[in-house]
Amino acid sequence: MSALLLTGIGELTTNAEVPGDPCGTIVDAALLVDDGRIVWAGPAADAEEVLRFVSPAARSTTGGRGATDAEEALRFVSPAARSTTGAGYSPGVERGAQRRDETELVRVDVGGRAVIPGFVDSHTHLVFGGDRADEFEARMTGVPYAAGGIRRTVAATRAAADDELRERLTGFTRELHAQGTTTFEVKTGYDLTVAGEARLARLAAEVTDEVTFLGAHVVPAEYADSRDAYIDLVCGDMLAAVRPHARWIDVFCETGAFTPAETERILRAGGEAGLRPRVHGNQLGPGEGVRIAVALGAASVDHCTYLSDADVAALAGSDTVATLLPGVEFSTKHPYPDARRLIDAGVTVALASDCNPGTSFTSSMPLMIALAVREMGMTPAEAVRAATAGGAQALGRSDVGRLTAGTRADLLVLDAPTRVHLAYRPGVPLVHAVYRAGALVA
Ligand code: NIG
Ligand code: FE
Repeated sequence: MSALLLTGIGELTTNAEVPGDPCGTIVDAALLVDDGRIVWAGPAADAEEVLRFVSPAARSTTGGRGATDAEEALRFVSPAARSTTGAGYSPGVERGAQRRDETELVRVDVGGRAVIPGFVDSHTHLVFGGDRADEFEARMTGVPYAAGGIRRTVAATRAAADDELRERLTGFTRELHAQGTTTFEVKTGYDLTVAGEARLARLAAEVTDEVTFLGAHVVPAEYADSRDAYIDLVCGDMLAAVRPHARWIDVFCETGAFTPAETERILRAGGEAGLRPRVHGNQLGPGEGVRIAVALGAASVDHCTYLSDADVAALAGSDTVATLLPGVEFSTKHPYPDARRLIDAGVTVALASDCNPGTSFTSSMPLMIALAVREMGMTPAEAVRAATAGGAQALGRSDVGRLTAGTRADLLVLDAPTRVHLAYRPGVPLVHAVYRAGALVA
């Protein structure tokens, strides 16, 4: 395992808490990575001094410029990163006895480019079969979206073999990495049988730790006349079968999907089984989704397109993140959610793709940022933070979404001098390199 020193960073987004700067920006910055984690992030001018501070000779030294950062760095850096300052290989005397002494320090100069944390996409539906391009095409000529389209994907997913779904998931994982997404959530919800939902959760768990049980996506056709029996199933056998593969439980709380009372019942059952709640709420019209999410301490309530003042106040007084999914409004011609209203009220906002075949078949976080800036009143800095630290908070994660000492080294080197380019140059591929846990993935 190599330690990595990234230099020549024109603009570094750390997402450290800095008053007045949502991105905790450092200009002319450097980053030191070891063992897949950030050891130190700071001004490039301090990098050599940090390396000296973390050399064995300097371990007892205190004081001096950068001492605080260096002390912090000592908690994480490996012996070899302390002693090696060139690209040379350092075999160490007790080769084999101390593997970490064999670490080399690799230096990468990114030539003035901007670096941001890898995107955290906290809401996707990536395990599915089929395609609904025809619905999209019809919507663009004025046909409205209805939640019932989900049942078409349910039929295609039930018909798909494991390997077909698995191949698609690995393809999506490559697609996400290539666009700078290094953490993503995946929901079940396109099978809606006990064995089928467990199968989707098991396959999703092969590509992510963030699996969500969404048996309450819609009531499947075979239960159309006995919805209570379906809800009993979701809260009983289906939950038990999915539970070993999932961390989260979600409900589509909306007209045409599940009522507020049903939503509460299902989320409580999930909570009793050890799954944390999240909610699809207030997407197609005003509703109770936000109220329920806040009351049950959900990590996130997603969509938030139609909010009352009471909803906004409830979110502002809670730890529940409002996750906005502008790919849906783009692809359904619905009005965009008002991010400015939420941020001004003090609500934590995340941006996610909602990548799914019905309402948002895109996994592009840069597109979400561009839409949030152009259509939802967010500044570029707020949008980048929402797509990184915001998503991490929506998943209850403190190890991703920021580039500060101790976090996982998930980062995106942009082919641009500043993060503003993500919104300023919509549709242009701006990914120069992507690291996940310190390893190059794209
Ligand atoms: O998040 N809202 C519920 N589920 C998806 C839509 C799924 C579909 O239409 O297939 C969403 O928008
Ligand atoms: Fe969704």
